[in-house]
Amino acid sequence: MTTTTTKTMGRRRGAAAIGAALLFLATASLGAHANTDSNDVTALNVFYTTMNHPPQLKNWVSQNGDPCGQSWQGITCSGSRVTAINLPGMSLNGTLGYNMNLLTALVQLDMSNNYLGGSDIPYNLPPNLEKLNLAGNHFTGTTPYSISQMVALKDLNLAHNQLSTISDMFNQLTNLTTMDISFNTFSGNIPQSFNSITSLKTLYLQNNQFSGTIDVLANLPLTDLNVANNQFTGWVPDKLKKIRSLQTTGNSFSNGPAPPPPPATNPTPTPTPTPQRPALPSSNDNNGPSNSGSKHSKLQGGAIAGIVICLLVLGAMFAFFVIKRKSWKLSRGQDPEQKEPLSPLASGFKRKRHCL
Ligand SMILES: *[C@@H]1O[C@H](CO)[C@@H](O)[C@H](O)[C@H]1NC(C)=O
Ligand SMILES: *[C@@H]1O[C@H](CO)[C@@H](O)[C@H](O)[C@H]1NC(C)=O
Repeated sequence: MTTTTTKTMGRRRGAAAIGAALLFLATASLGAHANTDSNDVTALNVFYTTMNHPPQLKNWVSQNGDPCGQSWQGITCSGSRVTAINLPGMSLNGTLGYNMNLLTALVQLDMSNNYLGGSDIPYNLPPNLEKLNLAGNHFTGTTPYSISQMVALKDLNLAHNQLSTISDMFNQLTNLTTMDISFNTFSGNIPQSFNSITSLKTLYLQNNQFSGTIDVLANLPLTDLNVANNQFTGWVPDKLKKIRSLQTTGNSFSNGPAPPPPPATNPTPTPTPTPQRPALPSSNDNNGPSNSGSKHSKLQGGAIAGIVICLLVLGAMFAFFVIKRKSWKLSRGQDPEQKEPLSPLASGFKRKRHCL
């Protein structure tokens, strides 16, 4: 045997050993361990427990198990991660799990039309949800802080619960397109951060006890808005009146044209179409009231015109004075150029200051 063949055989043996090890590891992970990510399993075990072990959920268990590999009812997976939980109308009671924040791959959570709640929504919700539907349950209290961190959220439905307080939590929810929080007991003003929901197309606030104005909604791209049966006051903003599907009945809105919004709350002032007075470049015009937005330039133009007219008048007076003086001096036999013509200039300056 040459040293070359020995080396080659050695390499082959090494490669075979590595291959066997990999195969063993793969088999072991398939066999001994479940398909599902262990954090996802933990969260679903707890959830099953907090729902009081509902027997109607096929294949669910409260210890271990394999949600993806054993096709737990209502569970959708991608690879080893749980991506959706869809269990609407399953007569489930109890509440959500307290560690659902472990479900980091979950994009859809639909638990609508069950009997969950009787308490606040647990605050550790899955952080990367695009769709959260807890409508038609018995949740009470305040909307959880974790919703404010769901930057990917597109569809939020908390309708038909007994929620009473909505946090000012929408600053980061710029992808949210549909929100239904109707038929709760929300009161007070619409939170100011609603104006950050720049993708919002559909908004249902009906049948709560919201009060104040709905002005904060004016610049949202809404195509479907229902604010009926609240305690709103003020005017429905003109922009919102153009919405195809708009419901505002059952409030205390004022009728007639809305007053112009105060400048402080109107970030995009539209030019006010005030009738223009005839623009006369008169020096007397300076102190007159100016209605137009170009007040400054108008005032400046007036001042310049006034100065020009003053100078022209002074020039004419000066010329007249000099000519008069010349002819007077000539008539008295004096040289008109002997004395400096300062006095008329000085008096002219005095007059000019007066003029201004
Ligand atoms: C809650 O659900 C469980 C499982 O479905 C059921 O056994 C139990 O009676 C329900 N409890 C109430 C108060 O409805
Ligand atoms: C918001 O939506 C856009 C378009 O669908 C998407 O590209 C983006 O990733 C989303 N943002 C987040 C934080 O998910």
